[in-house]
Amino acid sequence: MSTQTEPTGMEDVNNLDAILAITNTDVTEALHAVRDNADAIFTWDYEKGRRPALNKLYEKAKGAQWNGETDLDWSIEVDQDELVELAGVANGPEDLKAFGVDVYGSSLEKWGRKEWKEHQIQSQNWSLSQFMHGEQGALVCTAKIVETVPWIDAKYYAATQVMDEARHVEVFAKYLDTKLSGHYPINTHLKMLLDDIITDSRWDMTYLGMQIMVEGLALAAFGMAYQTTPDPLLRQLLRYVMSDEARHVAFGVLSLKEFYADLSAPEMLERQEFAFEAALRMRNRFLQQEVWERMGVDVKEAIRTFAQTDEVKNQDPFQQLLFSKIVPNCKKLGLLDANDGWLRKRFDTLGVLQFETWDDTGEDYLAFDAVTEDRAAAAAIA
Ligand SMILES: [Fe+2]
Ligand SMILES: [Fe+2]
Repeated sequence: MSTQTEPTGMEDVNNLDAILAITNTDVTEALHAVRDNADAIFTWDYEKGRRPALNKLYEKAKGAQWNGETDLDWSIEVDQDELVELAGVANGPEDLKAFGVDVYGSSLEKWGRKEWKEHQIQSQNWSLSQFMHGEQGALVCTAKIVETVPWIDAKYYAATQVMDEARHVEVFAKYLDTKLSGHYPINTHLKMLLDDIITDSRWDMTYLGMQIMVEGLALAAFGMAYQTTPDPLLRQLLRYVMSDEARHVAFGVLSLKEFYADLSAPEMLERQEFAFEAALRMRNRFLQQEVWERMGVDVKEAIRTFAQTDEVKNQDPFQQLLFSKIVPNCKKLGLLDANDGWLRKRFDTLGVLQFETWDDTGEDYLAFDAVTEDRAAAAAIA
């Protein structure tokens, strides 16, 4: 069910001109510095297990470490052309029309099979590149959590996540370098989101931005890629990464549930605003503006042609599914309903409220356990 009137402050958020006015200006720079504005916190309370759920997660993480070089079968050949053919390639305007996209009258009208195929290849390079950049964001954010969180059980757990994220950056970079056909710089909206998360001085905001929003979306996106890719190596890689990510999202849910219980309404509102801003940036990154740019077409025209309007429509079921982990987790944390449902109203305008009744991710990690499953299978054979 959709609200009839948009909440105040929503006037511009779907406007394509406003969204596309922002682009990266430093894509040729090798380094990007962000001030993290936080105190490093020591705790002298070393009593382990004061927070049993975090301690359980930590013990689980210690036994679930894998090696990206040796546990994945890098000898598997990846034929990107064949992968794209298997997924299906449009031959021209009529094929797109069947999917409700009218490219007649735009510069995409003259595109045939060759151009649409190249577009899909670029889109795959772009997606994997953004996964890799997001993983580096997680690496840096989790290192910050080790420093800033005041609880020893959380510092221990976060330390295991730093190692997990290093491995994730490593395997996505290797897959891009050795199996696909090119890298993309970080998407401008993803970069702004990571900058916002790292810049905020409050330790719980790192968790909210990274563990709940970015990793919640990543878990859903990896799940969809896992279900749909015909490439056995990418499936293997994603299965291992997802079993780590499920723990990371649980870490966010368990830690913030405790912390939010004592926050005032105005403090909760700041968290709700932060979560919604993050949701918009993540939605906007999926416009893939850099892919159209590389294909040499007018970016605004191409995105408008696909949206068939000047507004981002928020009706694509695939895009909505990306929020399937975020929404139930926000609900569990009280973010959806605090302050008269401030975030609920805004998630409704993004068309993602239907996920509020889905399972939250506090315990999902128990069902995703690639390492234990594979070790048990190997032991059974031996
Ligand atoms: Fe990760
Ligand atoms: Fe993660």
